[in-house]
Amino acid sequence: MIASASRVEHFNAAHRLHNPKWSDEKNAAFFGLCNNKNYHGHNYKLIVKVTGKVDPESGYLIDLKVLKDIIRKEVTDRFDHKNLSVDVPDFDDLNPTAENIAYMAWHRIKKHLNPQFELHITLYETERNFVEYDGR
Ligand code: NI
Repeated sequence: MIASASRVEHFNAAHRLHNPKWSDEKNAAFFGLCNNKNYHGHNYKLIVKVTGKVDPESGYLIDLKVLKDIIRKEVTDRFDHKNLSVDVPDFDDLNPTAENIAYMAWHRIKKHLNPQFELHITLYETERNFVEYDGR
């Protein structure tokens, strides 16, 4: 029996979208308000979905308390109330777009899971804008 189990977490963080290889003009034109040099914040919503075989003995796919602790240790404790562009080494050489935040969350969480489980990350940057990443 294959099932999915999900956990929702939130974090608040600041960032600036900027490509140092581009001119200031090109950055401003491309990233718009998100290129603001003094940063700006988002209230992120992170949905972590794990898919795999349910253990017939326990009836669990994964203990959601364990999943919660992994997400908090690997993602929310690192990102919450931080300036992703300045405070978080994950983004020293990576633009902190929603896509790249989802990518980092995937890699940070995946290493703690049963390797047979699939992991799917959904990250809302605003109520209307979200990205998804599943390791591809
Ligand atoms: Ni932004």
